[in-house]
Amino acid sequence: MAASNTAAFDRIALWHAEHLNFVTLLDLFEAELDRFSRGKAPDYELMLDIMFYMTHYPDVLHHPKEDLAFARIARRDSGAVPIVARLSDQHTALKRDGNALVIALDDIVNGAITSREHVESPGRAYIAAFRAHMDSEEAEILPLAATLLDRGDWATIERAIQARDDPVFGTARDERYAALRRRIAREGRTTRPVP
Ligand SMILES: [Fe+2]
Ligand SMILES: [Fe+2]
Repeated sequence: MAASNTAAFDRIALWHAEHLNFVTLLDLFEAELDRFSRGKAPDYELMLDIMFYMTHYPDVLHHPKEDLAFARIARRDSGAVPIVARLSDQHTALKRDGNALVIALDDIVNGAITSREHVESPGRAYIAAFRAHMDSEEAEILPLAATLLDRGDWATIERAIQARDDPVFGTARDERYAALRRRIAREGRTTRPVP
């Protein structure tokens, strides 16, 4: 790899690492939903923490950054236009469905509603959609980004998106997510630091 593109490669590695972090959280979320089938109540507060993170990090930073990368990829490879359009639409849908789950979980945690159907079916649909979305990005977009985007592209993209440390996996360690981080550690799940 040319030295001039090392920074671009680092961005692809970071991109992939963030996906693995999201996979960890979706797996935990799914494990809580699976408790329903054993007649047990899930940890709604943990589920709310996960969805709060999803709507305040991926939706606010990861996906907007991707949308900018997608636009640059599409300008350089017209064959990528349909896939980036589809993925950007999925960002919109994930944000909408994620916000709805936060509202439902918040209502449950605060005792306003109690019924399982408010979270089980939408939760499973969200998990499936998010996983499929990342699978498409990993298979179809990250390889294109690795060849089509250079150091200058990433500098422009990062100037446009306000930098923010990952509040769960980064170094800032937001107290709001202390219980979630303990759960990740207790389950022996790998956390991948995001610089
Ligand atoms: Fe995405
Ligand atoms: Fe992504």
